[in-house]
Amino acid sequence: MLPLTDIDAALMEEVRTGLKANPKRLPPSLFYDAEGSALFERITELPEYYPTRTERGILGDHASDMLDGAGADLELVELGSGSSSKTHLLIQALLLRQGHGVYAPIDVSAAALDHANAALTQTFRNLEVHPICASYLDGLKDLPRRGPRRLLLFLGSTIGNFEPAEATSFLRAVRDSLRSGDALLIGMDQSKDASILVPAYDDAEAVTAEFNLNLLARLNREWGANFELDQFRHLALWNEGQSRIEMHLESLGRQSVFISALDLNITLEKGERIHTENSYKFRPGMGENILQEAGWTLERTWMDEQKWFAVHLARS
Ligand code: TRP
Repeated sequence: MLPLTDIDAALMEEVRTGLKANPKRLPPSLFYDAEGSALFERITELPEYYPTRTERGILGDHASDMLDGAGADLELVELGSGSSSKTHLLIQALLLRQGHGVYAPIDVSAAALDHANAALTQTFRNLEVHPICASYLDGLKDLPRRGPRRLLLFLGSTIGNFEPAEATSFLRAVRDSLRSGDALLIGMDQSKDASILVPAYDDAEAVTAEFNLNLLARLNREWGANFELDQFRHLALWNEGQSRIEMHLESLGRQSVFISALDLNITLEKGERIHTENSYKFRPGMGENILQEAGWTLERTWMDEQKWFAVHLARS
């Protein structure tokens, strides 16, 4: 177990409130410890998980167009950079154009940042990397500017993990942290048939199940909890009305769990669920609206042929 002082106080209160709520919930930022980040990398390579592959295809086809659209003399900043593997395509195009580049990846996972940094330094000469281990808005706050124009990357449809109202206020806060003329490149996964969506979040190899369950495993490891992992199952449900995939952990029986760091005992009924994540899938016009409501000017959109995934370029 971690020393209590190492656990963020606000996160502790969020977990306490979530586990006492009805229905119960846990904050998705907990997914990304070293184990979770490694499991997520495996998800991105699964045959069923089309978003990463599709977005990578779009970036591969249009990277230099995207940079040209964003403007001259760019510095790159990325929110939730993870392995930065898709970003390699943009960095390559940037170095080809500018000869030299600056890239500041921001992520809550120190392990992911370390791996990304090692791979980037090995692949690219003339790239300055400034990794920042922080939450999105904390990372952006006081981030020194190293170029005249910032291109902010927010890929992987992570914006779909926010509630729609929060997505708007988040994108407004992001915009407030930038200068006029800066640009945003944002990936948004589009709504599509449930027969494609559901397997992407409930794969045959059960890697996604392991990723979801790692949330409880992490609370056991770090917070002195005693969740029995085989007493829960991973659930991915398509909520058509809200246009979102919902991830839950369902209790297989009536059980009690103690979370030592919170000095909290909870009881779960058989079939009771802990809601762990939503992944909103954007219907035509939805993403554009959110950007506009947040004060951004949408300039261009690139999509794959099947229109499964959109990458928008917006100006602050
Ligand atoms: N941003 C990813 C997405 O919404 C996160 C994700 C993928 C995820 N698979 C998951 C989150 C499974 C929780 C459980 O696609």
